[in-house]
Formats: sequence, structure tokens, C-alpha cells
Amino acid sequence: MTEPQNEPQPDQPTPTGAILRRGPFQVGDRVQLTDPRGRLHTIALEAGKQFHTHRGHIKHDDLIGMPDGSVIPHSSGSSYLALRPLLSDYVLSMPRGAQVVYPKDAGQIVTMADIFPGARVVEAGVGSGALSLSLLRAVGDGGALFSFERREDFAEIARANARIFFGADHPAWTVTVGDLVESLPQTVEAGTIDRVVLDMLAPWECLDVVGEALAPGGVLICYVATATQLSRVAEAARDDGGWTEPQAWESMVRGWHLEGLSVRPEHRMHGHTGFLITTRRLAPDTSAPVRRTRPAHGAYGDDYTPPQEEWTPEDVGERVVSDKRVRRTVRDLHREVDRVSGADPTADGD
Ligand SMILES: C[S@@+](CC[C@H](N)C(=O)[O-])C[C@H]1O[C@@H](n2cnc3c(N)ncnc32)[C@H](O)[C@@H]1O
Repeated sequence: MTEPQNEPQPDQPTPTGAILRRGPFQVGDRVQLTDPRGRLHTIALEAGKQFHTHRGHIKHDDLIGMPDGSVIPHSSGSSYLALRPLLSDYVLSMPRGAQVVYPKDAGQIVTMADIFPGARVVEAGVGSGALSLSLLRAVGDGGALFSFERREDFAEIARANARIFFGADHPAWTVTVGDLVESLPQTVEAGTIDRVVLDMLAPWECLDVVGEALAPGGVLICYVATATQLSRVAEAARDDGGWTEPQAWESMVRGWHLEGLSVRPEHRMHGHTGFLITTRRLAPDTSAPVRRTRPAHGAYGDDYTPPQEEWTPEDVGERVVSDKRVRRTVRDLHREVDRVSGADPTADGD
């Protein structure tokens, strides 16, 4: 049997980042340490360095060269488990500007929007880039992800997070700073996009440009925080007529406690993250067949008034991050990218 290699093989394709996730721990690798109480700490390996806790330290040199999944001695006499962070671990620990899409929803998006290797995908907004990482993984090196973000500082955070995770700029990724409605028609040719993923305040405002970009049969998926946004997307797609009947759902994941006879659901869970809604683009000059089932009595009664005013993040209860905090995040990320790329070997890991 051939041993798995940590080095790229000249005759084999090397999917982005794959070589960073295999083989013994090396200088520069990110390693997630689990302490005896189950708390997680992420470090970046540097020769001669120590990871300090209030009880003592772990030597990076004790980790370098060890296999993934090793147990490492702590100077206090206890032991820490060392593993490379998975994508889901990285996303939850990486620096943020905007709120991220949680792994449970990213998994649903990739599967239900049918993001396939080689696909041409449009995404907006980018925020901190959490969802972009899952989309890049799914399209692979041979696909194309065109991501749009109207805030330059958020785009910068997302690019840095991706560079740290993949170890380099991902070859399938193009990030455009600008509003999707203005920038999309200038960036991609009409009818050439397989899938569109929208995570933004007002996705219904983008339906026209997204409809132009999508190939017939292409999938649009929107992730929204509130039921009012969900309803607005569904009504806008129906009014437009060039889309299949929208489907919406939410997913709830409840972890389980597993200890001896105490096998039960965890007491705490994320009660709500967001809703997902999908629809598919119809062929040109085609309208969706008239629905056989009639809307419920009163669904469009006199009191049905879709909101017309401009929405703000506060309207839908989004946490607004201060500009000062975002500037600090950008600064810290630049130092980490420099460290990963070897430009500043004196900078600290986390
Ligand atoms: C909740 S965040 C996206 C989070 C991201 N999906 C993640 O997982 O990290 C929403 C982002 O959409 C951006 N945005 C909102 N409307 C936009 C538009 N019309 N065009 C481009 N970006 C937009 C906002 O600036 C914000 O950064």
C-alpha cells in the first residue's frame, strides 16, 4: 500500500489546500488543541515557540513532526489533544466582520443548491467569507466562484480568511467590491452562471440581474434571517414569473450529550440562524404554469401590504459591528497572512 504523501505529486492534481491537511504537523500549520476541560485553542506552529496557558505551556517543537490526532504533554502534567481544524472549526474561530453562515446552513446550501465541481457560481454578499470557503471547496479548482461584496473592508477580511485557510489565493475565486446589481452584469456574461447564492438584506432587489446571469434551469438560493424577508423573496419571484415555485425551509440541529447512561439532547442549541429559499430559472420567454392549488383564504387579503421602505440591518435584528472593530480585525488578519506567507516571521500566532 502506498503511504499518503504530504508533498504535491508531479503527476497528480493537487486540490487547493489538500496538502496542508495531510501528513505530520509542519511549521506554519494551524493546530487545534483541546484542553482537559474540552476547551479549544488554535495555534500556528513555529519552531522554538511555546503555547502558554495560566498553568504552564506546550512546546510547538513537541508538535512539529507528530501525526495529526496526537496527544501532547503540557508542562503541568496534563495532556492536550492536537488536531488540524476542519473547515467547520475554522469558520467558527476565524476573524469576522459580518455575521457568518453557520456550517449547518452552509452544508444545506451546498447540497440543496446543487453546487457541483466545476460549477460557475455567483455569491453575494461575501461578509467574512465563511460561506465562500464552502462554495470554493464545492466548485473545486476547476470551477469559478464570482463573489460580490459592497464593503471593501469586509472583502479584505474574507480574502485574508480564505488565504489563511487554503494557504494561497484560491484559483477559482474572483472577489468584486461593489453592489451586486451594478457589478454583476459587468463581470459575467448573461446566461453563463449555473448557481447563485445570496446572503444579504434585500435579495429581491437583485432578482432581475441574477435572472439575466443564470442559465436556464440554474438554481437561486437565498439565506435570510427573517420571515418577512423570506416572504418578500417568494413574492418577488412569483411576480417576475420567470422562476419555478419557490421552496423554503429552515434546519435545526440539536447536538446530543453522550455519557454513560446520560444519552440525551444537549440543553443548549442554536434555536434560529436563518431560512433558506430556492427557485430555478425558467427558459427565456417562459412563464411558470399557473398553480393548481389556490393560495389560502386571506393570504392576499386587504391587509396584505408588502413593505416598500428601504430595510436596514437593525430592522431585521442584525448585530452591527463597529468600524473600529472591523479595522482592528483587518489589521490582525494582515499580520496573520504575512506570518503564513513568511513575510513577517516575528509576528505572533493566535
Ligand atoms: C450577512 S453578510 C454575509 C456573510 C457571509 N455569507 C459569510 O458567511 O461570511 C451580508 C453581506 O452582504 C453585503 N451586501 C448586502 N447587500 C449587498 C449587495 N447588494 N451587493 C453586494 N453586497 C451586499 C453586506 O455588506 C454584508 O457584508
